[in-house]
Amino acid sequence: MYARVVAATAAAVLGTVTVLLSPTSDARAHEDRVPTVIAHRGASSYAPENTLPAIDKAAELGFSWVENDVQRTKDGELVVLHDDSLRRTTDVEDVFPGRAPWKVKDFTAAEIARLDAGSWFSPAYAGARVPTLRHYMRRVEHNHEKLLLEIKNPESYPGIEQQTLKLLGDEGWLDGRHLGRLVVQSFSADSVRAVHELRPAVTTAYLGTPAVARLPEFARFADLVNPSYGALTTDYVSAVHAVDGPHGRRLGVFAWTVDDAAAARGVAGYGVDGIISNKPDVVRAALDSD
Ligand code: G3P
Ligand code: CA
Repeated sequence: MYARVVAATAAAVLGTVTVLLSPTSDARAHEDRVPTVIAHRGASSYAPENTLPAIDKAAELGFSWVENDVQRTKDGELVVLHDDSLRRTTDVEDVFPGRAPWKVKDFTAAEIARLDAGSWFSPAYAGARVPTLRHYMRRVEHNHEKLLLEIKNPESYPGIEQQTLKLLGDEGWLDGRHLGRLVVQSFSADSVRAVHELRPAVTTAYLGTPAVARLPEFARFADLVNPSYGALTTDYVSAVHAVDGPHGRRLGVFAWTVDDAAAARGVAGYGVDGIISNKPDVVRAALDSD
């Protein structure tokens, strides 16, 4: 069933946009919907997460959608990194000993630019850097990719929503041509609401599993509800789909983080619109062979 539609990569990628933007998609039979596959932190099982090589790898594997995590340095630069500390994914302990716990917010952009963000993963990626969001957006654009941008730990970075939107606007990502290629998400409902209120045209997602009774509340500012896949059921996905979001279209569901074939088939069977994966090729193959 899935192979028929997935065969056309472009159609699969456009699936997300279709679900989000086309009212006619509501009429499509559940079994005809093909989840979009999103490369989590880039193709992060194959290249160091949240680096430019990781999104290059996603493109090389044929995936247009990539996910990332955005935080802010001590001197106000937006950078792409998952943990609030630089320790796990860079050589910060060697370069700056004595500055534990090596929080992103305690380092300047120039200091972070000195770090190696690739060697921890493999010597083949030695010298990869923690990208600034600006450099990252330029590579996403260069690769013709689409971005699920997560505002990470917004409580530590007051005003990060406005700053992120400003940068996206400066880079041309808030025009009509780009808005269909961009989703901004967060675990913080306040942060998602802020993005929606600042730029209502931007597609937004809440990371979590709100109680069904509270979905209408989230639907005022979020176009998607993106849960951990372990929390999912068919009934929950149907309940989310039954609610219209802030743009008058039904809410979407992207499940995370699915890295094996059985789980991919399982969540696809629940009717999700997207699957976020460190191994997008494994997910695509599982859906393709279904
Ligand atoms: O996109 C979903 C996922 O990224 C949320 O979890 O911790 O990997 O950012 P985390
Ligand atoms: Ca993330």
